[in-house]
Amino acid sequence: MSDSKKIILIVGGGGREHALAWKIASSPSVSRLYCAPGNGGTATLAGNENVPIAVSAFDEIADFALSKNVDLVVIGPDNPLADGIVDYLEQRGLKCFGPRAAAARLESSKAYAKEKMTAMGVATAGYGVFDNKTEALEYARKNNRARVVKADGLAFGKGVTVCDTIAEVESALAQIFDERAFGEAGDLVLVEDRLAGEELSLFLLCDGKSILELVPCQDHKRRFDKDAGPNTGGMGAYSPVPAYHRYRDAIESDIIEPIRRALANGKLDYKGVLFVGILIEDGKPYTLEFNARFGDPETQTFLPRLKSDLVPALFACCEGTLDQIELEWDSRHSCCVVAAARSYPAGSSKGKPIETGALDEDAILFQAGTALEGGTLVTNGGRVLSVTGLGDTIEAAARKAYDNLTRIRFEDMDYRRDIAGRVIARCQSK
Ligand code: GLY
Repeated sequence: MSDSKKIILIVGGGGREHALAWKIASSPSVSRLYCAPGNGGTATLAGNENVPIAVSAFDEIADFALSKNVDLVVIGPDNPLADGIVDYLEQRGLKCFGPRAAAARLESSKAYAKEKMTAMGVATAGYGVFDNKTEALEYARKNNRARVVKADGLAFGKGVTVCDTIAEVESALAQIFDERAFGEAGDLVLVEDRLAGEELSLFLLCDGKSILELVPCQDHKRRFDKDAGPNTGGMGAYSPVPAYHRYRDAIESDIIEPIRRALANGKLDYKGVLFVGILIEDGKPYTLEFNARFGDPETQTFLPRLKSDLVPALFACCEGTLDQIELEWDSRHSCCVVAAARSYPAGSSKGKPIETGALDEDAILFQAGTALEGGTLVTNGGRVLSVTGLGDTIEAAARKAYDNLTRIRFEDMDYRRDIAGRVIARCQSK
């Protein structure tokens, strides 16, 4: 990255993009920031301007970025990556943080991701791939562990069903194959072994040849307390994760090292951030999924712990200079709690006024499904906002997030009361 101040455009409008914008806006190496389209939170972020361009309007994004001499376009969400936004913007002469479409298939096709994991020697759960309900169901009937049904393609975070019984497997398959609930994303289905244990979200910055590991988080994907209810995009997360340090060596040898090797020997061509979803069962780590982007709400969770400037690291991913980057992290813990519409994930909220009081210095409000309408902040989505608390212990960080969340109100606001609850209970019992 050259020394001149940079102009950056972030593509996306969720909580992840607000967190990225918050961090990038604080960078001494940035002179101007734009978010397309952004949200109610980025609208009032000092140094940023929201641009009303949809994430799917690649030509308008390129025209805008070229007209403003943007130095780097940072892509937040999965869909534009899968649809080739990086390929398109690069053809137009723009520098992008994010993988090209072929590499983003690691997220946009779960069958392809599994093939790649196997080819690279990355530990993962047993699975079968099927293009019809009969064979998929037969596989699950013969294999007592095969209780996770995944649509192959992108399904707005709703394509994975974790089942307890074969009847639930049948119903999930019927939804995909008979009702076509996910359209073409359900042309293929994975039926995967259901594992039990701690889940971790690991983020690896990649520059095409080397990787830089960020701090891990633990997300809470189920909608309700005690991990009940449907899967969501994520209802809250915390960082660091004690389980990670216990299993660090196994994760390094079974997951990270094979990825590093595949980058070095050309079996993997990837730049951007590779989000590895991991589950530890009986002390052994398995890769549940790859995502081609930062996590949400993980980004809102770990970025407040990053002391270093993020911008040089993003440029290094594009320029193949990641080996020159070192990141410094705050030793404090962070806990992010998502406030959603009560009807989420089936429904969302639109146009309801949001009241926000002043938050403590070590609590940060990140907005997701919000908009500014005539100067009033209103709801505009399923996951509406989140608060990240920082503290010397995970318990203090969670308390900080929850205390500050009580200063925010909107109609039908709902959130889990147990984010980081299990790890706090474990720490207390020691
Ligand atoms: N929080 C999980 C995800 O971003 O996919």
